[in-house]
Amino acid sequence: MTERQNEFRAPVAEAMKAYAGDGALAFHTPGHKQGLGAHALLRELITPQGLREEVSLMEELDDLHEPTMCIKEAQDLAAELYGADAAYFMINGTSGAIHTMIMGCLKPGDKVLVPRNAHRSMIGGLILAGVTPVFIQPRIDEKLGIPMGLVLADIVAAADAHPEAKALLLVYPTYYGVTIDLAEVAEFVHSRKMLLLVDEAHGPHLKFSDRLPLQALDAGADMAAQSTHKILGSMTQTSILLVRSGRVDLERVRSAASLLQSTSPNQLLLASLDIARLQMAEQGPELVNRAVQLAERLRQRVNEIPGLWSFGKEYLPVCEGLDLTKVTVSVRGLGITGVQAEHILRHEYKIQCELSDAYNLLFIISYADTEEQAAVLERALRGLAAQFAGRQELTLPVEIPLVPAEGISPRKAFFGGRETVDFEAAAGRIAAEQIMFYPPGIPILAPGDVIDAEALYYIRTMQRLGLKVVGPADSSLKTIQVVEEI
Ligand SMILES: Cc1ncc(COP(=O)(O)O)c(C=O)c1O
Repeated sequence: MTERQNEFRAPVAEAMKAYAGDGALAFHTPGHKQGLGAHALLRELITPQGLREEVSLMEELDDLHEPTMCIKEAQDLAAELYGADAAYFMINGTSGAIHTMIMGCLKPGDKVLVPRNAHRSMIGGLILAGVTPVFIQPRIDEKLGIPMGLVLADIVAAADAHPEAKALLLVYPTYYGVTIDLAEVAEFVHSRKMLLLVDEAHGPHLKFSDRLPLQALDAGADMAAQSTHKILGSMTQTSILLVRSGRVDLERVRSAASLLQSTSPNQLLLASLDIARLQMAEQGPELVNRAVQLAERLRQRVNEIPGLWSFGKEYLPVCEGLDLTKVTVSVRGLGITGVQAEHILRHEYKIQCELSDAYNLLFIISYADTEEQAAVLERALRGLAAQFAGRQELTLPVEIPLVPAEGISPRKAFFGGRETVDFEAAAGRIAAEQIMFYPPGIPILAPGDVIDAEALYYIRTMQRLGLKVVGPADSSLKTIQVVEEI
């Protein structure tokens, strides 16, 4: 029998099976002893085989921190699949990957360019590394009421104003699937001797369809943090950091990943990452192209429903692209908010979207979806539209606030003394905490921002609409934490 080709193997799962199959009596961690002591509820959640293989540190297994065996093999296979020079398995989500990316190539005091629609994990990375952001205002689409991203001219202007900046951190694609011409950005960023670090949480599938935007690494990014768990088939909490060597020191990245991650990584999580990679090696283009086709058909049908609108590529300026598997549905035309629509779909139609905002619902179509599921969603949207037919289009008296005035660095604000003040009286003070709505997790206020009245009004309005406030110590927002005045 010939050996299976490497890319069609799952080295981590094979090593776990080998240890469990050896039958050694367990006098080691974890305490449930391969399921023997597991509570019935845990046994219901994880199969007996899964529990038997949920071990670590055995000679058959490998060390995530200094991999030489199955984890190294699995990471090398992931790097090969994605065309990277190195791939690092992350067990603390893309947040962990983003923290690693920042800690792996920047140092305290460095300045970086960051779009204001960055995810909260980027702010976390800046705090950890002591790096100072220069925030860039993304373009806001008035009709959709969401940030779409940066254009090259914004990046050039920020780089001209801050020639000392060491890197551009970018969100690509945005949560709603919008992309910039990244190859053009990479060329510019590198011409200014900056690094291009990409939060590609929503892009682990881009590589597998030529109908989707270029994946970040292929466009010239130095590092890209991908949420394998969000879009592909690994378990929640698992991500991959892809790295191109040259401008980035691979050893430094490895040691940052090691600093930030547990010394007891769960093997089931690692195996799930490896298996998700295997699934893409076996069937990536077929599965991802099917999702693209399904989403495109759904988008077309949604656009036939009076009162609903799902933007496609044609809506975007020519320089932008769209991950077609993200189906954003604007419900403005029904005279209701996205939050109301989410509630109705969930409780009257048993449909759960990925997120809602003031005007929109976002549906993720993945390789796991089928025609039948898309048809159920379409019927529900038709039902929703019929319920509110003939209403006037909704217009809220509020706009996403612009980048606040420069205050102090996020790290200084995070570690500085803080005090609690009335929310309504906080204008002019410096925020000590993040405030956002989750998802999408884009901070409206970040530690270090000068708080302005527009931001407070926007936050209060969104809270009243029913969006979930995340970040502040007082989530009712009677009060807010600000940096202590000395
Ligand atoms: C754009 C973006 N970046 C990063 C993250 C963080 O990913 P994770 O939840 O895997 O830590 C998210 C999560 O929603 C995200 O939407």
